[in-house]
Amino acid sequence: MNPSVLDDIQKIKTIDKESMINFCTDSPKHYGKASELAEKIQVNYPKPDNIIVAGMGGSGIGGELIKDWARNKTYVPIEVNREYNLPAYAGKKTLVLLSSYSGDTEESLGAFLDALRRGCMIFCVSSGGALLEHADRLKVPFVRVPGGMPPRAALPYLFVPALLLMEKMELAKGAKEELSEALALLEKVCKDNAPEKQQKNNFSKTLALNIGQTAPVAYGFGFYRSVAMRFKQQFNENSKVPAKWEVFSELNHNEIVGWERADDLAKCFSAIFIRDKEEPVEINSRIEITKELMEQEGVKIFEVKAEGKSTLAKMLSTVCIFDFASNYLALLRGVDPTPVKTINYLKDTLKHNKVREKIIAELTKQS
Ligand code: F6R
Repeated sequence: MNPSVLDDIQKIKTIDKESMINFCTDSPKHYGKASELAEKIQVNYPKPDNIIVAGMGGSGIGGELIKDWARNKTYVPIEVNREYNLPAYAGKKTLVLLSSYSGDTEESLGAFLDALRRGCMIFCVSSGGALLEHADRLKVPFVRVPGGMPPRAALPYLFVPALLLMEKMELAKGAKEELSEALALLEKVCKDNAPEKQQKNNFSKTLALNIGQTAPVAYGFGFYRSVAMRFKQQFNENSKVPAKWEVFSELNHNEIVGWERADDLAKCFSAIFIRDKEEPVEINSRIEITKELMEQEGVKIFEVKAEGKSTLAKMLSTVCIFDFASNYLALLRGVDPTPVKTINYLKDTLKHNKVREKIIAELTKQS
């Protein structure tokens, strides 16, 4: 690993061929555009009894962020669905937020078909594909987000419309206000962690360097649960490394035993603890004890201190730091962060089973 690559803009451009890092740097702009797009959304649904966000990978994580953000704000239960069908309780009083960037993901199309059959209230977020083709034909409300991005980089467009819809439908208050604080903070975080900022003054570059050849593990708590999950996905897809995420206090009831006799395996991991100056005392004590135990076992330990006042600003700014770090780790490893060859191979290879074709044929029969 050659740390000098992190501060060499020309080299960064040669490795990051499809400019994934630019999507990070431009994320405040994308959040702004996504808010403008979301403002125009009109839905005439009554308040649902429950909400299901159906989406996979980069299109599902927005649902997890919404679920955590809304946990202390809404009386409506939220579930993120990653199956081909919906849970048994889904029905006419369920709001299904269908999220698929490409609009062609098999599981998401399956969930869409199931939602139509069950008469759920549906709202789609996508850049196109079979999803929007059928949503348009069946007069299902949708928002068409800009295309041409890797789905995980399109998080602002996949997350903000669903978030603001919660406020529009009077299911949770404060989304708009928190989003404006988050946007201002993101501008700062992006500057502080931009490629132009030298490694010694750049937190994300330093984190990537510290992770080095190890597999990163994110430990979150409370609403940082989904932030830790996003961390794992970004290190998998951008850095092309195995990664893990866990959440307090559940990790105190199993995960910590795994480090007891990790022996040489302990050196293979870095644990990244998400910290918050307002973390509750019970979590604070658990983090301190866990850190000590893991340090004794030889696991590399790092901390990321969340910035911001509101829940949303804290969540999105921490996501942003990790997004940058996952890209910087890719540079250090000499890999282009954008392509996800294995996902594409899998999607292509699955075509032979004709499941997607059958789902589309069933969608075509819906009227
Ligand atoms: C690729 C990525 C993937 C996709 C997932 C679902 O950048 O992040 O996790 O998001 O394969 O595809 P879409 O988002 O098109 O429904």
